[in-house]
Amino acid sequence: MFEKSYNIEIIKAIEKKWNVDSIKSKNINEDNQPQIVLKDVTTVYEGEKTPTLFDINLEINKGEFLLITGPNGAGKTTLLETILGILPIKKGTIEIDGMSVLKHGRKLRKKIGYVIQGLDFDPKTPFLVKTAVMIGRSGRIGLFRRIGKEDKRICRYYFDVLRNKKEIEDYWNRPIGKLSGGMLQKVMIASALASEPDILLLDEPFSNLDVNARNDIFQLLVRINKLANITILLVSHLSYVPKEISRVILIKKGRIILDAKRTNEVDLEQISIETFC
Ligand SMILES: Nc1ncnc2c1ncn2[C@@H]1O[C@H](COP(=O)(O)OP(=O)(O)OP(=O)(O)O)[C@@H](O)[C@H]1O
Ligand SMILES: [Mg+2]
Repeated sequence: MFEKSYNIEIIKAIEKKWNVDSIKSKNINEDNQPQIVLKDVTTVYEGEKTPTLFDINLEINKGEFLLITGPNGAGKTTLLETILGILPIKKGTIEIDGMSVLKHGRKLRKKIGYVIQGLDFDPKTPFLVKTAVMIGRSGRIGLFRRIGKEDKRICRYYFDVLRNKKEIEDYWNRPIGKLSGGMLQKVMIASALASEPDILLLDEPFSNLDVNARNDIFQLLVRINKLANITILLVSHLSYVPKEISRVILIKKGRIILDAKRTNEVDLEQISIETFC
């Protein structure tokens, strides 16, 4: 799926934009504590009796690039939304950067970019692509602060990086409901990047993308993970583990059944995810 033939221009562009030295130093985790910590977390949807996630224990360090996978209905999206603090938990604790997500969710969510699975808009949705990307930026600067000139420039920058040059059309001013599935997916990723997050949660971001776009965007994620030390949690139905992924979490029926880190002893490429699913 992820081949070598990616668009080098977008990689160069992103390297230029993410000022490597300043971002790296900004994001260094000085006390060396895990960035995301879930302890015995059980998530139950409102109105449901049975939990969807059971006793999840997870520690994620700054700069890890995780692949979260597992069968449909296993609880992957639920895990991401639990980490975001937008779902009710029955027991357990969730901390990001040492702060409780339940108490400080709003503040913490400003640091997190989230690409929602299969988002779709009514064709009559009135707002424009540029507004969608700027909403991502607002997540960073605060919804009630005005988007300035520089913010607009940054939003346009991410949109242009994500938009394949071969797509001649510039859909920046188009209503969001009129985009193709792949275009919309790119806009949503651009919106998450425009928030210049410390943590990026991506739920099936490749589902509507053609092979070239998948390669480009995967390599883009690899670069921002490496250069800017951004923690990435990627939910995807891949049948193998790309070499850039540092850890694989496999979820089945609401439980983590495999949590494998790449080490000298563990070669993640040897893991055949399908045998677990
Ligand atoms: N709002 C909700 N209320 C009640 N149950 C829900 C809700 N959303 C999801 N579920 C249930 O929780 C379980 C896990 O769903 P989730 O969306 O987390 O799975 P997933 O692993 O992301 O699946 P997929 O690969 O299909 O995206 C499923 O049984 C689903 O029906
Ligand atoms: Mg899902």
